[in-house]
Amino acid sequence: MAKRPSQLLKENPFVLAPMDDVTDIAFRELAEECGVSYSTCELTSVDALVRDKVKHDRYARGKLKFSSVQLFGSKPEVFVEAANKVLEDADSIDVNFGCPSACVNANDAGAMLLKDPKNVGEIISKLVKHVDRPITAKIRLGYKKTTYREVAREVEDAGADVLAVHGRTAEQKYSGFANWDSIREIYENTQIPFIGNGDIKDPKQIDDYLGTHCDALMIGRAAIGNPMIFDDFSRYHKRGEIVDLSNDEKKQRQKELFLKYLEKLSHYDVAKQHQRIWRQAMWFFKGIEGAKKLRVAVVEAKDDLNKVIKLVKEF
Ligand SMILES: Cc1cc2nc3c(=O)[nH]c(=O)nc-3n(C[C@H](O)[C@H](O)[C@H](O)COP(=O)(O)O)c2cc1C
Repeated sequence: MAKRPSQLLKENPFVLAPMDDVTDIAFRELAEECGVSYSTCELTSVDALVRDKVKHDRYARGKLKFSSVQLFGSKPEVFVEAANKVLEDADSIDVNFGCPSACVNANDAGAMLLKDPKNVGEIISKLVKHVDRPITAKIRLGYKKTTYREVAREVEDAGADVLAVHGRTAEQKYSGFANWDSIREIYENTQIPFIGNGDIKDPKQIDDYLGTHCDALMIGRAAIGNPMIFDDFSRYHKRGEIVDLSNDEKKQRQKELFLKYLEKLSHYDVAKQHQRIWRQAMWFFKGIEGAKKLRVAVVEAKDDLNKVIKLVKEF
């Protein structure tokens, strides 16, 4: 039987944040090779799932050692029905209470749910009761007004296994710096295994936050094109090591990683999405000399994966 997310965090406290159109199944498999504790799929609509309108790759287990499936929606009973449809692919179910996007919020889903903490509690408790998997929750500090105190209590009382908090309100989207004082306040006032999230990019931030503000750190944007960040964090955490690569070493490392990403991607239908490949190429080679030329060539290669692989090998 798979471990619970809370157990995984005790062994390794560095988690990949779910990111729509970024953390596809191939990237998550690569992040596991690079030492992530566990990862969660891109947000997936419960309404679309119950109508069989979601492509399997979006939430597939693939070759992952641990697979968390993230759901968004608004009605507790639809969450339960959708969660029970994805059980084969899910070692745990995560609920998105943080998405600030207008089209998600228009259906009273994502961060909109933070306006009604009781409903948050009802969604989690129904899932805990009717779905045979650990349930986790990912929240922001509130929609416009902060509600994190009430929401965190509801999530904990409803029996969730882990709570993750991105230290901004939905209204703030990604502006400013995440409020780690509020994250700490939740940590000090709850017992639930707790992940802090927002603007983590440097292993030295472990000293500032881990164990004082949260039990584990979730990394999003700093992991884009950079799955080895999980290895960097583990090295610093375990041995105080800072990885400092020369430009050539970095280029070599990123080439190897991107080729692995493409190999993994080739097993899935998402490999046909050419835009995905060139965007990932842009992220993996950001800041490396000659990357612009490579990107243009990758765009021109369209969905010819073998050609892209050849271009990267020759880069
Ligand atoms: C491009 C992008 C897509 C995102 N998609 C999701 C998502 O599908 N589900 C979710 O819970 N959060 C999503 N987020 C929010 C991240 O998981 C994370 O909470 C946020 O980026 C803050 O962490 P960071 O400062 O480490 O990036 C997304 C963020 C970005 C930048």
